[in-house]
Amino acid sequence: MRGIILSGGSATRLRPCTKVTSKQLLPIYNRPMIYYPLNTLIKAGIKEILIIVSPERAGDYLNLLGSGRQFGVKLTYEIQDKPRGLAEAFIIGENFIDEDSVTMILGDNIFEDDFTDDINNFKGGAKIFAKKVKDPERFGVVEVNNKMEALSIEEKPLQPKSNLAITGLYIYDHRVINVAKKLKPSVRGELEIVDLHNWYLARHELEVSLVRGAWIDAGTFDSLLDAQILARDRLQNKLII
Ligand code: TTP
Repeated sequence: MRGIILSGGSATRLRPCTKVTSKQLLPIYNRPMIYYPLNTLIKAGIKEILIIVSPERAGDYLNLLGSGRQFGVKLTYEIQDKPRGLAEAFIIGENFIDEDSVTMILGDNIFEDDFTDDINNFKGGAKIFAKKVKDPERFGVVEVNNKMEALSIEEKPLQPKSNLAITGLYIYDHRVINVAKKLKPSVRGELEIVDLHNWYLARHELEVSLVRGAWIDAGTFDSLLDAQILARDRLQNKLII
C-alpha cells in the first residue's frame, strides 16, 4: 500500500492567510496542518508517501518534511501545476503507485480514527469513509442501504439524499490510474473524484465505512478553529510525529 497526501489547491476561502503560504502549512495548534494527515498515514503503517504540492510552495514542504527519514518513512514530492481536481492525483502519481494499491488523504483533513485495519484488510476495488454531518450539502454525499452498501454518490447536492459526507480519505486498487486518465473535466474544469467513485460503484466495488471519531475538513476559518481546538483537546496523545 502506498500513500498520497494531496496538498496543492488554491485555498481561496482562507485568504489572506494563504496569500503567501499554503493552507496545509498553517498551524493546527502546535503543528503544521500537514502533520495530521501525515500522522494518519504513518500510524496506519504506510511507509512510502507521495506529497503533491503546488509549484509555488514545493520548497517549503521540502524544508519542512525533507526525506521523511526522521519519521521512519520515505517521502517523495510531485508538483501539480494547476488545481485541476482531486482525481488528477492518480495521473500525477502513476509511476509512484505502479502496481500497488493507494490510500489518498487530503492535506487539510484531520482525523481522529486509526485506519490500520482498513488498510491492512483492503483487497481491491475502492473504499471511502463517510461521516454523519449537519451540513451535507457542503460535501460529496453518499446514500447507503441498511447493509452500508452505496446506492448513490453526489457532489455538493442541493438536496442531499443522506447526511453522510464523504471524507478526504480514500483507498483504491491500482486501476484508479487508468480510470482517472479517462475522465473528462467537469463544468468547473476539474477531474472529479466523484467520477472515480461512480466508476467503482457501477461495478459494485465501492465499499463505504463509517468514521467513528472526529473528522474536520479544515478549509474554512470556522473549521480551522474547530480543528485547532480538537487538536489541543483530543489529538495530542494520538500523534506519533
Ligand atoms: P479544496 O478545499 O476543495 O480546495 P482548495 O484547497 O483549493 O480551497 P478553496 O476551495 O478554499 O479555494 O481542496 C481539498 C484539498 O485538496 C486541499 O488539501 C487542497 C487539495 N487540492 C489539490 O491539491 N489539488 C486540486 O486540484 C484541488 C481541487 C484540491
